[in-house]
Amino acid sequence: MADPLAPCWLEDFIGQKNVVDIVRWEIEAARKAGRRGHFIAHGPTGTGKTTIGHIICMDLNLVLVSLTGAQLENTRDTYAILHRLTRIQEPIFLQLDEADGMTRAASQVLHPVLAENVFDSEDGRRLPLQPITAFLTTNYLSQLSEPIISRCRIQLQFDLYSEEELTQIAINSAHRLTLSITQQAAEFIAEYGLGEPRRVNHLIETAATYCKVTDQTCINVTVVDAVLEKLKLYPRGLTKLEVDILRFLAMQPKFRAGLQTIAGAMFSSPKDIHQRHEPSLARNGLISIQGTGRVLTEKGIAYIESLGNAL
Ligand SMILES: Nc1ncnc2c1ncn2[C@@H]1O[C@H](COP(=O)(O)OP(=O)(O)O)[C@@H](O)[C@H]1O
Ligand SMILES: [Mg+2]
Repeated sequence: MADPLAPCWLEDFIGQKNVVDIVRWEIEAARKAGRRGHFIAHGPTGTGKTTIGHIICMDLNLVLVSLTGAQLENTRDTYAILHRLTRIQEPIFLQLDEADGMTRAASQVLHPVLAENVFDSEDGRRLPLQPITAFLTTNYLSQLSEPIISRCRIQLQFDLYSEEELTQIAINSAHRLTLSITQQAAEFIAEYGLGEPRRVNHLIETAATYCKVTDQTCINVTVVDAVLEKLKLYPRGLTKLEVDILRFLAMQPKFRAGLQTIAGAMFSSPKDIHQRHEPSLARNGLISIQGTGRVLTEKGIAYIESLGNAL
C-alpha cells in the first residue's frame, strides 16, 4: 500500500465505532462460516473509506483488485477490465473507489458480477468467477444506481471525526514516521483537520519534512506554526479556495449564490466544489446548503469578519 500512514489493522483504526463493529462481525462471519456480502462505504472524503476496504481485504487474505469509477467510464473499457477477473484463480476483493464515477452502462456490466458472481462477456458468453467480495466507496450514496445499492448488503456510513479522535490520529501518524509529538501540537493539528484524517495526515507529513530539513525529532507547536504558515492554511484548517467561497458568498445579495455560479467564480467544477469543499464548510456551520443554493451563515459571516483583510 502506498500510504505510509494508513492503519493496516482494524485495531489501529481510530473512531467510526459503528463501522468498525460491523466490519469486525463481517470478518468473523466470513472467516468462520464463509458468509460473504458486498459492501458500500459512503460519507465525506478523507474519512477512511478506502483505508478500511484495504484492511478488510488483508484480514480476509483475498486478492485485491483496485479500480476507480472513472476507469469504468465507457462500456468497452469496462468489459476489458472486468474480463481480467476471469483469469484470477483465488477469491477476489474488488475495491471500486469513487464508484459514482462509473456510467450507467458500465454499472450494467458490473451487475451480474455482483448479483451472480459471473462475468457476461460482450460476445454473450457467461464466464464463472472466483468468489467476489465487492467494496464500493462513494461520497454520496444517492449517486449510485438502485440495482447496485440493492446488491450490497453491508452499508458503512462514515462521518467526520471528533477533535479527540483526530488528536490521537496525529499522535499515531507522527510515531509511524518515527517522530515524537507534543500533546499540544497534536491538538493544534487536530483543530486544523476539519474532521478529516486526511487533512491531519497531510499536516503531519509536512511537519515531518520540516523536522527533517531543520534537524528536529519532535513536532512541537513552533513546528506546527511554521507548517501552517507555509501551507497558507486559514483558521480551522480552511484552504484559500474554501475561504474564497465564503468571501464570494459574503458579497452576494442575501449572502446567497447557486452552486454553478460559485464554481464558475472559483474556476472550478460544481462536482469538485460539492464533493471536496462544501461538506466541511457545511458541517462546520459556515454555509448552509439549500437545494442548489448556498447561503453564508452567521457563523460564516463572523469567520470572514475575524479574518479582516488577511489575504
Ligand atoms: N480511522 C483512521 N485512523 C487513522 N488514519 C486514518 C483513519 N481514516 C483515514 N485515515 C487516513 O486518512 C487518509 C485518508 O483516508 P482514505 O481512506 O483515503 O479516505 P476516503 O477513502 O474516505 O477518502 C489516509 O492517509 C488514511 O490512512
Ligand atoms: Mg477513497
